Amino acid sequence: MAKPVFILNGPNLNMLGTREPDIYGAETLDDIRANCSQRAKQLGLPIDIRQTNIEGELVEWVQQARGQASGIIINAAAYTHTSVALLDALKACDVPVIEVHLSNVYKRESFRHKSFVSPAAHGVICGFGGQGYLFALEAMASILSSDNQ
Ligand code: DQA
Repeated sequence: MAKPVFILNGPNLNMLGTREPDIYGAETLDDIRANCSQRAKQLGLPIDIRQTNIEGELVEWVQQARGQASGIIINAAAYTHTSVALLDALKACDVPVIEVHLSNVYKRESFRHKSFVSPAAHGVICGFGGQGYLFALEAMASILSSDNQ
């Protein structure tokens, strides 16, 4: 059985749909989960989608990915801009990492322009709302198939 792609979501993303919909849209995390499951099935990728508000839990999941996952798609939300611990974990995870943000963080406050995830990421997708996760799944499928050649 192929290892799943972990789709990891950080703090406050459980509030999607009601949280600042002008910025993050009307989609809930369950909508994103359903859309990702559908696209992942088409791409033949098993996935495991998780959300936590706790920084240490995100770090533990990234550590688990080494050995248990084929890749990581991560929206670390606010921890993106603060977490050296997450950067260190991502650097050690040994699987491809794609960073996702619903909003275009570069159009927003300057503190959101700094990412501790990007230095460990293969690439970054931001500004496309929930669709960004689907783009990330497509990119991950392509990275994993070229890795396997
Ligand atoms: C976010 C952008 C972050 O700056 C913010 O803290 C979030 C969500 C996004 O998906 O656009 O919580 O990661």
